[in-house]
Amino acid sequence: MLSPLAVRPEYSRRGIGSALVRHGLEICAERAVPLVFLEGDPAYYSRFGFTPGRDRGSGNPSLRISDAAFQVVALPQYEPWMTGTLVYAEPFWRHDAVGLREPGTQ
Ligand SMILES: CC(C)(COP(=O)(O)OP(=O)(O)OC[C@H]1O[C@@H](n2cnc3c(N)ncnc32)[C@H](O)[C@@H]1OP(=O)(O)O)[C@@H](O)C(=O)NCCC(=O)NCCS
Repeated sequence: MLSPLAVRPEYSRRGIGSALVRHGLEICAERAVPLVFLEGDPAYYSRFGFTPGRDRGSGNPSLRISDAAFQVVALPQYEPWMTGTLVYAEPFWRHDAVGLREPGTQ
């Protein structure tokens, strides 16, 4: 799970967000992670190869995440049988960090 990701506004649009995403994906590929998920704006993340999770057979894990925002990218270790519903790890729930607290604003 890549998100949440943020760059302080005064440092935005300098390539920091892109560098973080690309480096994160490289680390995941080195660790043989097959799929990387995130919640975010498709207008931004499509440039890194992310597509809607549903299109790859991955169920949206929360009603607080819009289908458009729930995205995934496949890395070299991915195999087509890897489908199903993403289950967030416990710390995401403990910190109330799954989806939007006010759905519909994304
Ligand atoms: C999204 C975010 C991480 C990008 O970080 P950044 O360091 O500014 O990103 P970069 O400098 O690598 O890329 C900037 C480019 O992304 C574009 N961009 C940033 N947010 C965008 C969005 N929501 N939709 C479309 N494009 C976006 C900028 O217009 C810019 O485009 P350009 O290269 O054509 O000028 C940062 O804007 C942010 O922290 N946003 C608030 C938190 C957030 O939405 N996080 C994502 C969900 S987890």
